[in-house]
Amino acid sequence: MLEARRAVRTLKEYHPPLGGRVGLRLDFNENTVGCSPRVLECLRRLQFEPLARYPERESVEHQVAAHLGLDPAGLLLTNGVDEAIHLICETYLESGDEVLIVVPTFSMYEIYAATTGAKVITIPAGAEFRYPTDDVLARISPRTRLTAIANPNNPTGAVVAKADLLRILRAAPDAAVLVDEAYFDFYGESLLPEVMNLANLFVARTFSKAYGLAGLRIGVLAGSAAQMAMVRRVSSPYNVNAVALACLPDALADQEYVRQYVAEVRQGREELQHELQSLKLHFWPSQANFVLVQIGERHDAFVRAMRERGILVRDRSRDPGCDGCVRISVGAKAQTERLIVALREVVRAMAPTGVPA
Ligand SMILES: Cc1ncc(COP(=O)(O)O)c(C=O)c1O
Repeated sequence: MLEARRAVRTLKEYHPPLGGRVGLRLDFNENTVGCSPRVLECLRRLQFEPLARYPERESVEHQVAAHLGLDPAGLLLTNGVDEAIHLICETYLESGDEVLIVVPTFSMYEIYAATTGAKVITIPAGAEFRYPTDDVLARISPRTRLTAIANPNNPTGAVVAKADLLRILRAAPDAAVLVDEAYFDFYGESLLPEVMNLANLFVARTFSKAYGLAGLRIGVLAGSAAQMAMVRRVSSPYNVNAVALACLPDALADQEYVRQYVAEVRQGREELQHELQSLKLHFWPSQANFVLVQIGERHDAFVRAMRERGILVRDRSRDPGCDGCVRISVGAKAQTERLIVALREVVRAMAPTGVPA
C-alpha cells in the first residue's frame, strides 16, 4: 500500500477555521477593510494577456527591492510568507537536523520543518510570553540548522529586541535564522537592512496583512545574495501568480492608504487594550494588529457570544501556554468601536459565571 513519508504521517494536522466566516472578521489578523482602491482598479483593467502567459516575476521583484532598499539578488517574491518558510526548510534542512522554535508561535514553522524529517525542538516562551533568548542560546548545537522567529509574534503580539536577535544570529552561524516580519507595518522595527551583512539572516514580509492582499498570496523573502541563490533553486519559477504580480506595483504605490490603515489599527489597538484593562481581563501588550486575551474557562462561550453579535474572534486556547486565551484582531476605527460595545456586553453577561476571572 502506498504510504506517505513517515515525517508526513506523524505530522500534526492544522486546519484553521476558514469556513463560514461571515461577519466582522477579527479572527485571522487580516486587513478588515480591504486593499487600496488602486489595486481594485488594476484588477478591473486586467486583460487576458497576463493570464494566458506564465507569470514573470523579475521586473516586479526589482520594484519591490527598490521599495525596500535591497539588492534584487537578495530578494524573492513568494506565494505568501507561508511559501517563504517552506522554501527555507526545503533549502536548509536534512532529516535529523535540529530546528529551534519558541512557542506559542505561528504553526507553519513546525509543520514545514517537521515535514523534512528534521527534529523540531520547541522551547516555551518566558514569563508573559517574553522571548527566552538565553534558553534559545543554550539549545543551539552543531546540529541546529534553523530557527524561525515571528517578530511581532503571533498569537502573542510580543516582540524580540534587535540585540537579542543579533545574539542568536551570531551564536548560530551555521543555522538559518528566519525573522518573520509579517506584522512589521504595525510595529515599525525591522532587521531587513541587516540581510546584506549577516549571511545566515533571512527576513520575510507579507502583503496579506496591512496591504489587504491575503487572497492574492504574495510575500517577500530577503537574505544575502549568495543564500538566496540557493533558495531560488528550490522555488518554482512560477511561484507567484500573474494577478498578484500585476497588482503589486499599485499596492506599493499607494503608501498613503497603508499608512492610514496602520494608523487606525494602532489607535484601535490602544483603545482595545484600554478597554480590556477596564474590564479587568488579562491581556498581553501587542505590537501587531491583534491582542491575545485571557478569557478563562469559558473561552468557547465567549467566542460563540461574540459570533452571535456578528464578530469573529479566534480561540487560541490550544496553543502552548495559552489555556483560556482568545486572539482578537484590530481593524478600522468604526469596527473597533463596534468590537468594544460587543465586548462589554459579552463580558458583563458572562461575569456572574466566571468572566472576568
Ligand atoms: C507570523 C506569521 N507569518 C506568516 C503568516 C502567513 O502570511 P502569508 O499570508 O504571507 O502566507 C502569518 C499569518 O497569519 C503569520 O501570523
